[in-house]
Amino acid sequence: MSSAIEQSSSQPPSPLQPVRRFAVVTGASSGIGEAVARELARRGWGTFLLARRLERLETLAKELRATAPSTPLFVDLADPGAAQSVASRILSMHGPVDALVNNAGFGIYEPFLDHSVNDHRRLMQVNYHSPLSLMRAFLPSMRDRGSGTVVNVSSMSAKMGPWGHSGYAASKAALRALTETLDAEFSPHGVRLSCLFPGIVDTPYFREPRMQQLFEKVKHRAIPAERCARAVCDLVDAPRIWRCEPGFYRMLDALCALNARLAHALVARGSRPSSLSRVRPEHSGS
Ligand SMILES: NC(=O)c1ccc[n+]([C@@H]2O[C@H](COP(=O)([O-])OP(=O)(O)OC[C@H]3O[C@@H](n4cnc5c(N)ncnc54)[C@H](OP(=O)(O)O)[C@@H]3O)[C@@H](O)[C@H]2O)c1
Repeated sequence: MSSAIEQSSSQPPSPLQPVRRFAVVTGASSGIGEAVARELARRGWGTFLLARRLERLETLAKELRATAPSTPLFVDLADPGAAQSVASRILSMHGPVDALVNNAGFGIYEPFLDHSVNDHRRLMQVNYHSPLSLMRAFLPSMRDRGSGTVVNVSSMSAKMGPWGHSGYAASKAALRALTETLDAEFSPHGVRLSCLFPGIVDTPYFREPRMQQLFEKVKHRAIPAERCARAVCDLVDAPRIWRCEPGFYRMLDALCALNARLAHALVARGSRPSSLSRVRPEHSGS
């Protein structure tokens, strides 16, 4: 095991060493999670970096150790028992952590009837059930210490399901609902949860073949991963029940309150493939 875990678990901090806060970041091998890990290290946090591509995590951890302790750990969050077992490993080697960033996730962009049942199950496992398991594992020690933060990376599609996102939007909406109810339960104990709703972020997320078509349509609205990562880290430092990034997406809530049909029509138009924009049901207008 890496020296970061050995140092933090076996030696009390010397008076000359800064007392570090430690965060678990899932999906740290790429995109937003990788940028979150860099930003946390820059802010002095020690990190546990989780994902499947261990070589990428090892390279990143080596870079981050110039600033703060960092430990790469393999986990496949599509495996139902994996989140619990990696969390137990961290807790037994290091002890409680100060923050959990549930960022790992993936999307599928295609019509509902083309999603296989397995696609739906996998989306729910990686994007919802695994974050839930990680929270079950880390929240008790946060509650016992009376401090800790969890940031769950959801998506704007959790607020208003766009075209082609049935499984993804459902998984991210479930994560949003869970965040809100857990904040109600844990904030009296000093533990705060936040949900981030990113809009379009320019990351390898869109390299998945089924996502490429969507990116062509929305790339003019994309923000860099680093900007999204700063929003995540700001929530770690100063929790809020939710935040949109970019912030102007909040306007969608206001529009929805005024005219939900119009808000949904705009979101559908912005996400539907251009080739389908003129398709009308056979009996429309009748
Ligand atoms: N990009 C956007 O526009 C956007 C918008 C809204 C929300 N989001 C959300 O932001 C989060 C990060 O996405 P991103 O844009 O940074 O995409 P990304 O570059 O594709 O990164 C996804 C990360 O999740 C990890 N991951 C995926 N499946 C996993 C599994 N089965 N087990 C463990 N780790 C897994 C990947 O690591 P490995 O492949 O190494 O396992 C990778 O580190 C996701 O939850 C996504 O839904 C993204």
